[in-house]
Amino acid sequence: MNRIIFFGGKGGVGKTTCSASYALYEANRGLKTLLVSTDPAHSTSDIFEIKINDSITNILPNLDAIEISGEKESKKYMDSVRGSLKQIVSPIIVKEINKQIDAASISPGTEEAALFDKMIEIIIEKADEYDKIVFDTAPTGHTVRLLSLPELLGAWLDTLIQKRSKSVNLMSMALKGQKASNKELENDEVIKVLKRRYDKVLQAKKIMIDNHQLSFIFVINAEKLPIDETVKAINILEKYNITVGGIIVNKLLPDNMQDEFWISKKEQETKYINIIKETFKNKEIYTIPLLKDDMRADNIGTISEMFAGIVKI
Ligand SMILES: Nc1ncnc2c1ncn2[C@@H]1O[C@H](COP(=O)(O)OP(=O)(O)O)[C@@H](O)[C@H]1O
Ligand SMILES: [Mg+2]
Repeated sequence: MNRIIFFGGKGGVGKTTCSASYALYEANRGLKTLLVSTDPAHSTSDIFEIKINDSITNILPNLDAIEISGEKESKKYMDSVRGSLKQIVSPIIVKEINKQIDAASISPGTEEAALFDKMIEIIIEKADEYDKIVFDTAPTGHTVRLLSLPELLGAWLDTLIQKRSKSVNLMSMALKGQKASNKELENDEVIKVLKRRYDKVLQAKKIMIDNHQLSFIFVINAEKLPIDETVKAINILEKYNITVGGIIVNKLLPDNMQDEFWISKKEQETKYINIIKETFKNKEIYTIPLLKDDMRADNIGTISEMFAGIVKI
């Protein structure tokens, strides 16, 4: 069973709407569900009209939610690094290191890595506690890159561990004329930190990829750009053996259009639906109609109920 489900897609296609209503659907049928919002433009709170923050909160029966942000997580991490450094180095060095940390925290990739760490922490710690963990993600490219991180990070951490072991050995040779013992290597603080991280990445990879517990659902609209982007994203995910659970075509127009403008819009939509069917012919494709109103707490149930009989095309 896929217990971890990622909803991805371009901005505005309906990821937050679909992930929130899917999570609600699973919770309503009795499954203990956790909804995790990782999109910096947090609108999960808006949809449920409940303040959701960075600790897990129960929002409805069987449904818990949390909103996490790369910016906040990277700040927390950097602060903890600062805190532990203060205890071991002189104030002058702390000042210099603080400069470096500030530079690092605004460099691209830091927030991404911090967000990824928080995501894998949730997956590792909560996978057994919940029947479903649903992620509402930031626009596609970002998330796809995040998911390919276990593979990349794993290799990178491994290289760092090897390098550090080599320099510990060199130091030991210089001081004692012999290589460091396994115990000495194990006790090296740097190696300890790297190993801990490496183990976490492997654990996340095992849950997400090797055990096929994760599946990625793309939300698109019947338009050209989301289709092209999804083709690229699927190629990357499949390269990393991540299951693509299906594609939801959201905001489909009603069939019985009257005036010329909408009849022509509907014809265009049908053309794109055919392209979608052809392009993703080995994938499950589902549709959700365009509703009259925006998604709010009082009508999220409408889309949620649709997941019970969601139409496969
Ligand atoms: N099926 C739908 N019918 C009507 N409005 C929708 C539907 N799906 C999404 N919306 C609206 O479209 C906008 C974007 O949806 P949202 O879920 O926030 O997209 P994303 O998270 O992908 O950026 C919101 O105003 C939402 O209420
Ligand atoms: Mg969103």
